[in-house]
Amino acid sequence: MEPQKKTGRYLRIYRQLKDLLEKPGDTDARMSTVVAVLHHKMESFFWTGFYCLKEGELIVKTYQGPVACQLLEKNKGVCWAAIKQGKTIIVPDVHKFPGHIACDSRSKSEIVVPLRDSNNKIIGVLDVDSSSLNAFDETDAEELEKIVALIGEK
Ligand code: SME
Repeated sequence: MEPQKKTGRYLRIYRQLKDLLEKPGDTDARMSTVVAVLHHKMESFFWTGFYCLKEGELIVKTYQGPVACQLLEKNKGVCWAAIKQGKTIIVPDVHKFPGHIACDSRSKSEIVVPLRDSNNKIIGVLDVDSSSLNAFDETDAEELEKIVALIGEK
């Protein structure tokens, strides 16, 4: 997608989500709404979902796209790397990321954004996969971070 078109699309998604997430709901409801809007509005998103920490494990939560791994092997792959480093990770080619966990062989590139609670503690990650190489850039990172922050705002 052209950079200008992408920024405009994210702006409309952000506004829509801000409005939707004003209404009562819990973290699960908020994550589900974010996934539904992103997955249906961004055509390059092949898999869109959250993995959350539970008793030291990363377990899949709400998602859209092909069936995913329920549990991610500890301290391996992109999601764990984002948790450990406390920052967004962009992977242009998943085959070049050491330890990448392939839940679906069609995924070619990936972005993982940490999800924080209202105390700024990391509680999980938003994970988005694309079936094209090099699908994500700094614009995606910036915009998805803003969107994910809406979940922890209340
Ligand atoms: N690729 C991720 C695993 C989750 S799937 O992409 C849905 C990882 O390496 O952590």
